[in-house]
Amino acid sequence: MDKLIIQSVDKSFGRIRALRQASLEISTGIFGLLGENGAGKTTLMRIIATVLKPDAGEITLGDIKWSRDSHKVRQILGYLPQEFGAFKNVTAEECLKYIAQLKGIRGSEECLLQTERVLKEVNLLEAKDRKVGGFSGGMRRRLGIAQALLNDPELIIVDEPTAGLDPAERIRFRNLLRQLGKNRIVILSTHIVEDIEATCQSLAVIKNGTSVQFSSQQELSAIAEGKVWTWKLSNADYNSLGKDVHVVSSKIHKEYVEARIIAGVKPGPEAEETEPTIEEGYLVWNMEQE
Ligand SMILES: Nc1ncnc2c1ncn2[C@@H]1O[C@H](COP(=O)(O)OP(=O)(O)OP(=O)(O)O)[C@@H](O)[C@H]1O
Ligand SMILES: [Mg+2]
Repeated sequence: MDKLIIQSVDKSFGRIRALRQASLEISTGIFGLLGENGAGKTTLMRIIATVLKPDAGEITLGDIKWSRDSHKVRQILGYLPQEFGAFKNVTAEECLKYIAQLKGIRGSEECLLQTERVLKEVNLLEAKDRKVGGFSGGMRRRLGIAQALLNDPELIIVDEPTAGLDPAERIRFRNLLRQLGKNRIVILSTHIVEDIEATCQSLAVIKNGTSVQFSSQQELSAIAEGKVWTWKLSNADYNSLGKDVHVVSSKIHKEYVEARIIAGVKPGPEAEETEPTIEEGYLVWNMEQE
């Protein structure tokens, strides 16, 4: 399948530059876009979903050009916005049939067939006659994916889909995304590193509208190479660590505390250099941007 190519996209809102020359190349599979609040994730997702127009730059997939063919893009696209508000007083099935009609799926039989197919895919078929207002957060998010799957899109965009889900729902949701990524492009935006760790082959990080793409998770963790230390300290020493010491995580044991620390130089005589995680690579990358 063709690659989705995002080339030098700029977008400003008044004086805020939400995207600065954002460029990405995305192949079939799940692509993670990792960034803090306000980094520019939703702005980029909206531009890919043709809800917003960029100030400059181009997006292409094969011979489809976003600046020229927005109607074609909408035919191949499924989009789960960050704030997916479904109608509360209708059943899941009614909600999806309505959206199917809005998406231009013709004939009530075809709408019903597609509705049943996507409900099955997100494991909500048994809840199809329940009112959406009574759904849990996880069920609502799955309904959001279901509507994005109507028309069997080649390209799916999901914006922070796991925020606010409990651990079991989050795992179920990640498994669903993995299924979807088998034969299409899925772009997943998140600020949760574990979402990326669990699902994405390739990824990009974004901060202040600037994105950097990595070909593997290891490439991101390697940014923190030589800067992560484990240090076993007594409780007293641990509690007296200065504010300038960047403790990423710590495990409290009976006799001592084992802390993981990010530092450019060895933070103490007993500290040992340690293999960095993606989270640490991401933290160091963010620190280097400031
Ligand atoms: N419609 C808008 N009008 C004005 N400013 C906007 C608008 N949309 C986004 N912004 C600004 O653009 C920047 C990027 O916002 P965006 O919503 O893309 O970030 P995000 O990475 O999705 O953040 P979050 O994790 O909080 O969802 C922010 O500074 C935001 O305040
Ligand atoms: Mg957002």
